[in-house]
Amino acid sequence: MTTRPGEVVSLPRREPPRVLVVSGPNLQLLGHREPEIYGATTLDEIHARLTEVARGDGASVVARQSNSEGELVTWVGEAARDGFHGVLINPGAYTHTSIALFDAARACGLPLVEVHLSNPDAREAFRRRSFVARAAIARVAGFGWRSYELGLLGLLAHLGRPAPRARARAKVAVLKKPR
Ligand code: DQA
Repeated sequence: MTTRPGEVVSLPRREPPRVLVVSGPNLQLLGHREPEIYGATTLDEIHARLTEVARGDGASVVARQSNSEGELVTWVGEAARDGFHGVLINPGAYTHTSIALFDAARACGLPLVEVHLSNPDAREAFRRRSFVARAAIARVAGFGWRSYELGLLGLLAHLGRPAPRARARAKVAVLKKPR
């Protein structure tokens, strides 16, 4: 599009972003479950905060939790068909075990952000592997309930204006010495 200086350009109106927020096993226990690791905030409180943050950005969220791997796989796999534009997910312990969830994350074709309340990399060795991470555009971990908020803000920014792909190779200018 070419424009003249001072010309007002109206960009094509886009649908407001809809984000699916998914939490996996045992996260319904937040607030009571090992508060020294996961904090005192409940999942309902996190969902309320995300709804507020999304609204402030002209977006909306639908938040769900399940202990069932199959249900999580269905929700994520069908997220695009269900009209979502992105997925924010805390897969809980399935992070470290579920190839099915990784496949669903790839299959849905949507930008997906993985979040964790704790920092799994700083905990037991079995938490260091994430199958979901390979299908994610980003990962936020270790900020307690704020990991969800930061993850959502990042995802909404990405949906508004995707980050450019990293250049494969940086250009190196070779300066020749004048003879
Ligand atoms: C968790 C980290 C996982 O290792 C653990 O199994 C959880 C919660 C987190 O949010 O810190 O259930 O995903």
